[in-house]
Amino acid sequence: MSDRLAGKVAIVVGAGQTPGDRIGNGRATAILFAREGARVVAVDRRLDSAEETVGQIVGEGGEAVAVEADATSEPECERLMSGVVERWGRIDVLHNNVGVGGADAGPAHVIESEWDRILAVNLKSVIFPCKYVLPVMREQQGGSIINISSIAAVCSAPIVAYKTSKAGINAYTQSLALGNASYGIRANVIMPGLMNTPMAIEGISKGLGIPKEELIRQRDAQVPLRKKMGTAWDVAWAAVFLACDESRFVTGVALPVDGGQSARIG
Ligand SMILES: NC(=O)c1ccc[n+]([C@@H]2O[C@H](COP(=O)([O-])OP(=O)(O)OC[C@H]3O[C@@H](n4cnc5c(N)ncnc54)[C@H](O)[C@@H]3O)[C@@H](O)[C@H]2O)c1
Repeated sequence: MSDRLAGKVAIVVGAGQTPGDRIGNGRATAILFAREGARVVAVDRRLDSAEETVGQIVGEGGEAVAVEADATSEPECERLMSGVVERWGRIDVLHNNVGVGGADAGPAHVIESEWDRILAVNLKSVIFPCKYVLPVMREQQGGSIINISSIAAVCSAPIVAYKTSKAGINAYTQSLALGNASYGIRANVIMPGLMNTPMAIEGISKGLGIPKEELIRQRDAQVPLRKKMGTAWDVAWAAVFLACDESRFVTGVALPVDGGQSARIG
């Protein structure tokens, strides 16, 4: 344990994970926040999965509670924030990790129902938690908001609904940062690249019918840095930096955590 987040209350939304044999971004972030001294609120629409995350944190001597909430529901986000303030009196960090893909392809193959679902989940799960944390952070005159986007927002990607939703998160976060800078609130984006997480590997290999090992080989080959995907811990360490006071002058940025993949632009 360290103390970069000592005394802080941190909410991680999407703190459970897709089942699989590796750790996901949300769970790894919740665990590192707790190891750095934060009291963690692990939020997921699947309570059992959030409870697993909390079990790991408590097992290491950290402090965390699990809360069931659908991050796309405005009333549930309002209840979540007021519940945390009632319990711990403040909210220092909000980390929005929820994101989904699906039957998504190029512009000529857009499926309306999938477009609506992906845009709705990926954008509302950021916008509503932010809407209800802002009054709390404004009152405190400080806080750090971290929104998980993707390098798909800025790199060529044939998955247009996902790409558009993540580009929307980048744009929204710039407004969030500028509109709340005078209150001492920081807002930043992390853009993960190709990460070896269950959501990506189990999810995509099932979706495309490719064996897991083959998919891992294909994804590793696309990464400039050591020809190896990143892990959820790489995203989590970037989140620790953006959550803690070491990044006190950093706001409105979109930080790629991608082994150099987005550096290929231009
Ligand atoms: N893994 C990658 O390669 C990769 C790359 C780029 C970006 N990302 C982004 O990382 C994030 C996901 O990372 P992960 O590995 O933790 O995924 P994950 O799927 O393992 O975990 C996401 C969690 O969010 C929960 N969730 C889904 N919808 C919810 C809702 N409406 N309300 C509350 N909880 C909900 C799920 O139950 C799950 O536990 C997404 O935003 C994704 O777009 C991942």
